Amino acid sequence: LSWVDFVSSVEQLGQGHLLRFWNELPPQSQESLRKQVEQIDLVRLQELVQGKDQRVDFEDLASRAIAPPAVLADGSGARWSAVEARDAGQAALREGKLGMILVAGGQGSRLGFDRPKGLFPIGPLSQRTLFQMHLDRLAAVGCYYGRAIPLYVMTSPATHEETIDYLERNHWLGWSRELLRVFCQGVMPAVEFPSGKIILEAKDRIALSPDGHGGLLNALAQNGCLQHAKELGVEQFYYAQVDNPLVASCDPVVVGHHLLAQSDMTTQVVRKRHALERVGNVVSIDGRVQIIEYSDLPESAAKRLLPDGSLALWAGNIAVHVFQGAFLDRTISLGNQLPFHRAYKKISTLDDQGKPQQVDGVKFERFIFDLLPLASNALAIEGKGEDAFAPVKNAEGAEGDTPTHARQAILAQHRRWLESAGAVIAPQVDVEIHPRLGFDERTVAERMPKGLDVRKTTYFEFSF
Ligand code: UTP
Repeated sequence: LSWVDFVSSVEQLGQGHLLRFWNELPPQSQESLRKQVEQIDLVRLQELVQGKDQRVDFEDLASRAIAPPAVLADGSGARWSAVEARDAGQAALREGKLGMILVAGGQGSRLGFDRPKGLFPIGPLSQRTLFQMHLDRLAAVGCYYGRAIPLYVMTSPATHEETIDYLERNHWLGWSRELLRVFCQGVMPAVEFPSGKIILEAKDRIALSPDGHGGLLNALAQNGCLQHAKELGVEQFYYAQVDNPLVASCDPVVVGHHLLAQSDMTTQVVRKRHALERVGNVVSIDGRVQIIEYSDLPESAAKRLLPDGSLALWAGNIAVHVFQGAFLDRTISLGNQLPFHRAYKKISTLDDQGKPQQVDGVKFERFIFDLLPLASNALAIEGKGEDAFAPVKNAEGAEGDTPTHARQAILAQHRRWLESAGAVIAPQVDVEIHPRLGFDERTVAERMPKGLDVRKTTYFEFSF
């Protein structure tokens, strides 16, 4: 585009204010700003601003929603047993058919930690970081089944450099670069609400933020991850979020149910503790599984009960999924059809005189769980919250989902594992286990010494 065409296209789309400090900028900054503007699909953005995509009638949707097809915690709901599922999952692990995806591109604004969340020290006794919790465990699982599991870590411009720097400084936490791929997701501009004007964060910089965990699809494609995984023989991907240190790495039972059901996408869920709990609701509508966020689900639907008095819409999303690689391939080749969701936030910008100010803004994000309605045989697997979900979302002091809550959950889980293996642990004592010594109830029972009597707080550490 010539300069004149560029300016007129920006102005035509109502974004001329982006160039209001242009004449003050040195050539380098002008070039950088122009590049940022050119990378935005302004026409698409205008459609989003006008809300052309927002025609969802949640009242109507919710009135048709029922619980999703699910395998319950007691094993009911499947035509096969939990043992058969475990066998199928373990076979896939032994055959090297699993890869893992960890998303770590979020800005972590609620936590108030000024570095990428993955660097947050969460190990209750070990102080191991969230990245270590995930990477050590996945390495241990791969080692246990005799086949290393490749890991695909998604970062964003907000977290990429610091993540790479951290991994470099820590020798990639013992991982080979061939098996640990770190790739960066895309961004979306924030716009002022309700005008729809793109927000300038500085005179030469647009307020850009990561495009949501649904940005995974484009990022996988642009970085050749699916091809890389295919070459390694990977057929299924286990998906988790970096801020949940409790999630299992490639749980063979979940994987097995997913395989036996020939599901394109399987999601682990937990039973909601009460009707209005602030978790996404995994539901089925007209035969398609989908997630309705708590904020979109009308209260009457959330409170609907079954004849036995239990919640009709009981399945809470914990953002643990299994994807068939072929399904991801297919959805990518059809073009990214994931819708955008809106988050309304205060955003820092400059007024006309260049002074800092805060405005009401909207951020646009895609969510990976919106792939569910596109999946054949989509399935929910009920897990226990105490073994699957302890997200680190909020700063200390909040009511839930704080680092303290997550640490307590890890300690309680490791205590349960040891006690069920016969250990006696004094009441006030804390225990944490390095995953190489056991990463679930079974492996702890197999690998930890018998008859343990733990009288003081102990980190069962693994040394290479
Ligand atoms: P959240 O939506 O909870 O966001 O992300 P967040 O960034 O962790 O925290 P807040 O909302 O700013 O306080 C859930 C998971 O999805 C990842 C996050 O890194 C986290 O693991 N995520 C989120 C991405 O990878 N990219 C995104 O664009 C958004």
